[in-house]
Amino acid sequence: MYRNRIGMSALWGKVMSPREASGLIKDGMTVGLSGFNRAGEAKAVPIALAERARDQALRIDLVTGASIGSEVDKSLAESHSLARRMPFQADPALRAAINRGEVMYIDQHLSETVDLLRTHQLKPIDVAVIEAIAITADGGIVPTTSVGNSASLAMMAEQVIVEINLAQPLTLMGMHDLYIPTRRPYREAFPLTRPSQRIGLAAIPVEPSRIKAIVITDKPDAWVSVVPPDQETADIAGFLIEFLQHEVRQGRLDNRLAPLQAGVGSIANAVLHGFQDSPFHDLEMYSEVLQDSTFDLFDSGKLVFASASSMTLSQAKGEQVYPDLAKYRDRIVLRPQEVSNSPEIIRRLGIIAINTALEADLYGNVNSTHVGGTHMMNGIGGSGDFARNAQMAIFVTKSIAKGGRISSIVPMVSHTDHAGLDVDLLVTEQGLADLRGLAPVERARRIIANCVHPGYRDAAAAYLDEALLRGGETPHVLEKAFSWHAALREHGTMLPSAPLAAE
Ligand code: COA
Repeated sequence: MYRNRIGMSALWGKVMSPREASGLIKDGMTVGLSGFNRAGEAKAVPIALAERARDQALRIDLVTGASIGSEVDKSLAESHSLARRMPFQADPALRAAINRGEVMYIDQHLSETVDLLRTHQLKPIDVAVIEAIAITADGGIVPTTSVGNSASLAMMAEQVIVEINLAQPLTLMGMHDLYIPTRRPYREAFPLTRPSQRIGLAAIPVEPSRIKAIVITDKPDAWVSVVPPDQETADIAGFLIEFLQHEVRQGRLDNRLAPLQAGVGSIANAVLHGFQDSPFHDLEMYSEVLQDSTFDLFDSGKLVFASASSMTLSQAKGEQVYPDLAKYRDRIVLRPQEVSNSPEIIRRLGIIAINTALEADLYGNVNSTHVGGTHMMNGIGGSGDFARNAQMAIFVTKSIAKGGRISSIVPMVSHTDHAGLDVDLLVTEQGLADLRGLAPVERARRIIANCVHPGYRDAAAAYLDEALLRGGETPHVLEKAFSWHAALREHGTMLPSAPLAAE
């Protein structure tokens, strides 16, 4: 059944059960796992590892591409087998374990992890477990729905376990482009000047003797739950499209815009969905994850090419796309995340980057990660790679959360992921603040006027007025800068008034 997926017959004898293969992983090891944004993660071996960890001392450091689905992070967290985890996660059980202090979480810019491993600034990978659709005749590993860090993890690991997933369609073959940069210093420039360019290999080149086990699985990627677009996300998309049309009229862009990046989550997905009803055409994406909205844009004829590191779909979209993957195949390329998120390429292509803020402040600083400044949500992911280097760094958020008990625009962010100087535009359902070329006080005035929810606008303006009396280039009333967060903690709302909207 599976032998046609293992082109190198010398490897047939390496097929074993997940439990047996997991025996290669010992207490204290660093394990590299395929998987990026809940796509293409190794599924069977880590679950077998979690089962072993329930009755024996077994704690590992786990490095992936980004978040992994299929309850892998959940099982590992619940069996207490994770000592350290990097560089990104999005699982509720693991999030809780991180916030209880049980798992040491190293949140990282996604483009950086493999260079840190390559230069031995992180502990080496002992075992890599990589999901594949096939192994080629010369031992190359062909990834599935994500590339992430899989190529470098497999190439650097002492031992490699391959999970051949029979449920992942062979039509994925040829969609990967595996370019591995040369060593630093004096690294050559990435030879990529267009999103659609292919610059690498179709399979991960691994010395076959390092493939110690092959496990056969048949579990598809878990579907993601996507909150459908609503009036507020449609309004955010509307403001953004109106702004981009203005840029076209000014001659700074044309109707093909520039390659687009859209971040993870429901809001960025919904905003991109809104581009279907825009005058723009022949769009290209140079992003890290392809969500439902990418395929909506393909189907509406707006999008001509998409480059990313993974594809993650809802059940409804997945059931439509996967049987028909051949239709999209030539218009998609999946790359290692050090290429999809490369600062050099993002700067060169002039990306328009759209990411989601948890909260932003009056000066345009953005918190993407820490609820209340302390509790990890997911992680910075690629938002920093893109925002810092994009031609236009756009952050979107609804102006209020939790039925209005939280204002997403606060006097001072409780944690900073993106400094105001890396944020060009802030967009809420209230409006858009174009912050380019503005000094801090000008930014604050524009954000209050255009982005803050009316229920919080007077309070924000009063804060700025009081701060202005104290002076400074970036005025603050430091003892009141977190007063909204303190009110939320003490009274369950940032404002003592009634909730502003339904939960
Ligand atoms: N304080 C506390 N909670 C807040 C909040 C705030 N200021 N703003 C939003 N939330 C809550 C929402 O209520 C929601 O809670 P729920 O899950 O209980 O419903 C949750 O945060 C998610 O917010 P939502 O509005 O549904 O947005 P999202 O699904 O688009 O996710 C991020 C937003 C910021 C969590 C997500 O985009 C993320 O993890 N970003 C960081 C990584 C990244 O940007 N990568 C980009 C490159 S791919």
